[in-house]
Amino acid sequence: MPKVVYVRPDGTQRAVDVAVGQSVMRAAVTNGVPGIVGECGGNLSCATCHVWVRDEFVAAVGEPRDLEDDLLDLAVDERRAGSRLGCQIAMTEDLDGLTVDIPPQEA
Ligand code: FES
Repeated sequence: MPKVVYVRPDGTQRAVDVAVGQSVMRAAVTNGVPGIVGECGGNLSCATCHVWVRDEFVAAVGEPRDLEDDLLDLAVDERRAGSRLGCQIAMTEDLDGLTVDIPPQEA
C-alpha cells in the first residue's frame, strides 16, 4: 500500500499507509495525525486540512482546481507553491512516499 509521510513543524515524521483513492486528509484523521482536522469532512469549506506538498511531489500531485484554489486564497495563512487541501488529494500508487508538511498554525 502506498505511504504518505506527514511532517510536523518540529520535524517529527509519521508515515501512514493510505489506500488508493483515500484522501490525504482522511488518512491523517483516521490515523490520528495531529494538525489535520478535516472539519468539513472533505467538502471544501474549512481548509483545516491544509498541507504543504514537498517540492519534489508538486508535479505529481498536480494543481488545485478552481474551488480549492479559491479556498486556499481565502482561508490559508501562508500559501506556498505546494499548498493543497489534503481532502482533495486522492492517493495513487504513483504518489507512494508523498511527503507533506503540516503548517505550524494547524499543528
Ligand atoms: S476537510 Fe474541509 S476543506 Fe478539506
